[in-house]
Amino acid sequence: MEVIDLRSDTVTRPTAAMRRVIADAEVGDDVFGDDPTVRALEERVAELVGKEAALFVPTGTMANQLALRASLRPGDEVMIGANAHVWRNESGALAALAGAQTRVLPGDGRFDAPAVRANFVPDEPYGSPTRVVAIENTHNASGGTVWDPVAIAEVVAVTHELGMKAHLDGARIWNAAIASGKTEKELAAGFDTVSVCLSKGLGAPAGSLVCSTRETIKLCHRFRKMYGGGMRQTGLLAAAGLHALEHHRARLGDDHANARFLAETLGAASGIRCDAAKVQTNIVNLEFESVDASTVVTYAAGRGVKLLGVGRRMRLVTHLDVDRAACARAAEVIAEAARA
Ligand SMILES: Cc1ncc(COP(=O)(O)O)c(C=O)c1O
Repeated sequence: MEVIDLRSDTVTRPTAAMRRVIADAEVGDDVFGDDPTVRALEERVAELVGKEAALFVPTGTMANQLALRASLRPGDEVMIGANAHVWRNESGALAALAGAQTRVLPGDGRFDAPAVRANFVPDEPYGSPTRVVAIENTHNASGGTVWDPVAIAEVVAVTHELGMKAHLDGARIWNAAIASGKTEKELAAGFDTVSVCLSKGLGAPAGSLVCSTRETIKLCHRFRKMYGGGMRQTGLLAAAGLHALEHHRARLGDDHANARFLAETLGAASGIRCDAAKVQTNIVNLEFESVDASTVVTYAAGRGVKLLGVGRRMRLVTHLDVDRAACARAAEVIAEAARA
């Protein structure tokens, strides 16, 4: 039975073509700085997001945390949107490794310039000064939502006006670019630091990059070593990343269309609440009216469909390894389980 896995866009397996470029990659010892494929990837990504330099790191978590660590001092505050990945899903790294506290703005993960101004804490001896404003585009927990480019520009402008740094968690910036019709460079404009991931929608097996000025990247490089992220012949992974950027970026629109198809199909099924109008990229959030997600997960697992859910809620993510037919089959199984 073919397994359909909608748990995340991180579950993709390298394609045959990607495995070939991995096998053929020219490599060196990246800790000594002489892996040519890593250098090529760093240059390519820096160019794509419009920053001076980029640093290859194992994970999106490390990319975010290096960027934030480079901009923060212990006791500083970071302003973020509700359920930001840097706060909710990075094992407390902001507190543990940067010594920072967080100010979480309410809403769906997006916020506006007046909210930044209203929540800013100045640098006074008794307070915890807000040093960084971090946004997430697309926003994972709220269902792959895309920031309005005008709102981003306003938030970045007020962030700088107040003397703070702006960080973009762009793990899925590629999806945001396709959905908003902007380039990655346009979406990253003005940010002091940007993190991007190759192992989500792009389908590489691992790898992320942090992008910034040469000076900040030098600092991130030092923290990468400190955090245990210095890898050796990592050109094998960088080659997969370069291949993914070249071949899997433009097709992300298919994942978005498949996600909308899932949302429309499931939104019309009985016992499921799913608002297709909210689906902007490759993530679908839905809610069951009378069954627990765990029941649906078990039912679907027996039919070759892998799912994730908590309480009555479920998140489905489309990607390179699921086509329209797979989505149709998964929707059928989920609808059956919701009725059962
Ligand atoms: C928005 C966002 N940022 C960062 C990350 C962290 O990536 P990684 O799992 O590679 O640490 C994720 C992972 O899903 C994510 O969704």
